[in-house]
Amino acid sequence: MNNTKEHISQNPDPRPVIEIKDLYKSFGNLKVLNGFNLKLMEGENLVLMGKSGSGKSVMIKCLIGLMEPDSGSIEVLGNDILKLKQQELDELRTEIGFLFQGSALYDSMTVRENLEFPMRRHTNKVDLKNTDELVLEALESVGLASAIDLMPAELSGGMQRRVALARALILKPKIILYDEPTTGLDPITAKEIILLMMSIQKKYKTSSLIITHDVDCARVISNRMILLLNGINYAEGTFKELSSSKDPKVQAFFK
Ligand SMILES: Nc1ncnc2c1ncn2[C@@H]1O[C@H](COP(=O)(O)OP(=O)(O)O)[C@@H](O)[C@H]1O
Ligand SMILES: [Mg+2]
Repeated sequence: MNNTKEHISQNPDPRPVIEIKDLYKSFGNLKVLNGFNLKLMEGENLVLMGKSGSGKSVMIKCLIGLMEPDSGSIEVLGNDILKLKQQELDELRTEIGFLFQGSALYDSMTVRENLEFPMRRHTNKVDLKNTDELVLEALESVGLASAIDLMPAELSGGMQRRVALARALILKPKIILYDEPTTGLDPITAKEIILLMMSIQKKYKTSSLIITHDVDCARVISNRMILLLNGINYAEGTFKELSSSKDPKVQAFFK
C-alpha cells in the first residue's frame, strides 16, 4: 500500500502524513470537537464520516490553518501547523490539494484562469512560464482538456467538480483533502467522480482524506474509515468492519 518509492528502502512501515491529537473546538456553548484524533498514513485513502453539523468542515479548516482550534496538536508532513509562520503555512499548503464542499470555482474566471490561480499564489513552487503545460496536464487527468476556455457557468455540475479536482491537483500535492466530493451530484456523476479520485490517487500517488456521508463512496474508495460522533473519533476500521458493527451508533452511519 505504500506507493512512495524513496521511503520504502529506509522504512517499510508507512508513516503518518497527518496526525491530529486531542483536538478541541467550541463556538460559544457549542462544543464541536471534543478531543478528536486522526492519523492519515502515507498512500492511504481515509474516509471520515459524520452527520451534517458534526464538525467535519471545522476539523478540515483547523487542519489547513484557516481556523484555530482551542487546544490539541496538528502535524502535517512533520510540521506543527499551529506553530508555523504565515509564509511557512503558505508553502506547506502547496503540498495539500483541497476539493472544497461544492466546487468553489471563481465564476468570473475561465477554467484556465481558475487553474492558474493557485500557481500564481505559489510562485516558489512553479515556474510561471510552464503554467500552460501544467493546466493542460491537470485538465487531461480529469478528461476535460476541451473545456479550457469555457466559463464555469457553461459546465454541468459534474464537469465543475472535475475542474475543481484538476485545480486541487495542479501543484502535485502530497495530500488531497476532499470535503463532500459527491454531494449535490446525481448518482452516476458521483460514481464518475469517485472513479476519477481513484485514478488520480494512482497517478499522483497521493494520500487522501475524504470527508463524506455517501456510503457508496466510502465503500468504494476507503482503505480505512473514521466515524466522527459527539466531537470524537468514535469508531475506526475498514468499511467491512464498521458496516458490520453491532453498535447501533455505528450502524446508523450506514443506513
Ligand atoms: N465560524 C463558525 N462560527 C460559529 N459556529 C460555527 C462556525 N463554523 C461552524 N460552526 C458550527 O459548528 C458545527 C459544525 O459545523 P461543520 O464543521 O461545518 O459541520 P459539517 O460536519 O457538516 O461539515 C455546526 O453546528 C456549525 O453551525
Ligand atoms: Mg461540511
